[in-house]
Amino acid sequence: MNARSHAIFPRVNRAGWIDTLRVMTRVIVPTVAKGTIIRRQTMERLAERQSLHIRAVKEMQRLKDKYGPSPLLLPIPFRPQLLILDPADLATVLRSSPEPFAAATAEKHAALAHFEPENVLISSTARRAELRPAHEHALATADRLHPYSIHFKRIVDTEFLQLISGIGSNRPNELDWLSFSQAWLRVVRRVVLGERARNDVTLTETLNELRERANWPFTARVDRRKLALFHQQLAGYLGEPDKHSLVGRLPTSDQIAWEDQVAQWLFAFDAAGIAVMRTLALLASHASYWAPAVEEAMGGRLDRPFTRSCLLEALRLWPATPAILRHVTTEIRSADRIVPSGAGVVIFAPFFHRNPALLYANRMEPSIWGENDALPDAGLVPFSAGPVICPAHNLVPTIASLAVGTVLSESGLALIDPVLPVDNLPGTLDHFAIRLRLSARRREK
Ligand code: HEM
Repeated sequence: MNARSHAIFPRVNRAGWIDTLRVMTRVIVPTVAKGTIIRRQTMERLAERQSLHIRAVKEMQRLKDKYGPSPLLLPIPFRPQLLILDPADLATVLRSSPEPFAAATAEKHAALAHFEPENVLISSTARRAELRPAHEHALATADRLHPYSIHFKRIVDTEFLQLISGIGSNRPNELDWLSFSQAWLRVVRRVVLGERARNDVTLTETLNELRERANWPFTARVDRRKLALFHQQLAGYLGEPDKHSLVGRLPTSDQIAWEDQVAQWLFAFDAAGIAVMRTLALLASHASYWAPAVEEAMGGRLDRPFTRSCLLEALRLWPATPAILRHVTTEIRSADRIVPSGAGVVIFAPFFHRNPALLYANRMEPSIWGENDALPDAGLVPFSAGPVICPAHNLVPTIASLAVGTVLSESGLALIDPVLPVDNLPGTLDHFAIRLRLSARRREK
C-alpha cells in the first residue's frame, strides 16, 4: 500500500453507467435545482408537488438493494463521486474530516466564491486550523447555551411580539413566510451584527443578490463589485462591533478579514428561520407535542430540551443541508478498488433521515434525540457531525426554540396551509407556502 493511501472501507462497489445517470437525474439534479445557496420558490413548490425527495430516497434505496451497503463509486468523468449508503460509513467519513475527507469540495468553491471566497468551509486544512477556533468561540459551539442567550431572548421577544401583535400587517391573525421572515431577518441582523444593523435591509439584499449568483456554480461570473460593496457594508459593523453581538466575539487580527466568515453566519441563519416555521407547522398539527412545548415556553427557562428536539425533527424530516459533501485528499484502497484522490463523497441526508427501516421515518418523533443533536451511527445528522460539524449546532436550536416559544406563549396556532398528514409527512415541506392562524392566548383566558 502506498504511504499516502488509506484503507478505510473494506469494500467499494462501482455503479454502472445507467445507474450513474439515474443518480444524477433523480437525486443530484433535483437537490441542486431547489437552490443550494438560496431557495428557489418555484422549485421548492415543484419538489413538494412531485415528491421529488421521496423519489430520490427510493432511487438510493434501489441502488443499495442492487449493489449492497458499501460505498458506491459513480464513475462520473473527471469527477467520480462516492455515494455513502450505510450509516457506519457516514459516521466514518464525518469523523475523518478534514483528512482524508476534506470539506472544501470543488462544488462548494464554485458556489461560495460568489459571496465568501475565504470561508472556513472551503479553506485548506492549515487555514481551517486558524479559522475554525474563531467560529467556535464566537458561536460558543461547545456550550449548550450561548453566553449571550438572555440578550438573544430579549431580541427574539421584541421582534416576535411585534410580529404577533400584527403591527404593519394586512392580516394580523395570520403568520405566513413573508411576515415571519422579515421579523426573523431583524433578529438575525441584531444577533449577528448588533442593534445598529436591525433595519439594514440593504445589507441583506446585497447578500441575497450574491447568493442568487452562487446558485449557479461553475456558470455565473463572480460579481466582484457587488462583493466589494457587501464587504464595505459589513465593515462598518466589524470595525466597531456591538458588545453583545456575535461579531463582537471575534478576535482582532491583521491576517484575517472576517467578512467572509460572517457572510456564512448571515446566510446560514436563513435555514434556521425555515426550520422554525416548519417546527411551528409541525406543532400546530400535533396536539400531543403542542402541550409540552407550550409548557416549556411558559416556564421561561432558556434551555428548552423538548422544543429543541422538535426543531431537530423538522431538520431531520426536511434537512436544511440535504447533501453533505467531501473531497478525498489521498487515494482510498478497498479490497479490489481504488478511490482516487480528488473524488467527491456524497452523504445524501434524506436517504438516512427517511430510512424506511426506521419506525418513525415519516413521522414526528422528538424523543429519538434525547440530549443529542447528532446521531451519526443512526445516520441522523442535521448539523453534520465530527470535527467539521456546524459550529452553530447549539446556538441555532437555542435561538430557534426561543422563537418558537415566543409564538407559543402568546398565541394559539392552527395550520391553514398546507395539510400535513401526520402519519406520512411529505418529503418536502414548501416553507414559502406555510400559513398559520394565530389566536391571542392571553385574550382567550
Ligand atoms: C438550521 C440551521 C443550520 C443547519 C441545519 C446547519 C448545518 C450545517 C451543516 C450540515 C454544515 C456542514 C458541515 C459539514 O460539512 O460537515 C454547516 C457548516 C457550517 N455552519 Fe451551519 N447550519 C445551520 C445554521 C448555521 C448558523 C446560523 C451559523 C452561524 C451563525 C452556521 C455556521 C456554520 C459554519 C461557519 C459552517 C462551516 C464549518 C466548517 O467548515 O468548519 N450554521 N452547517
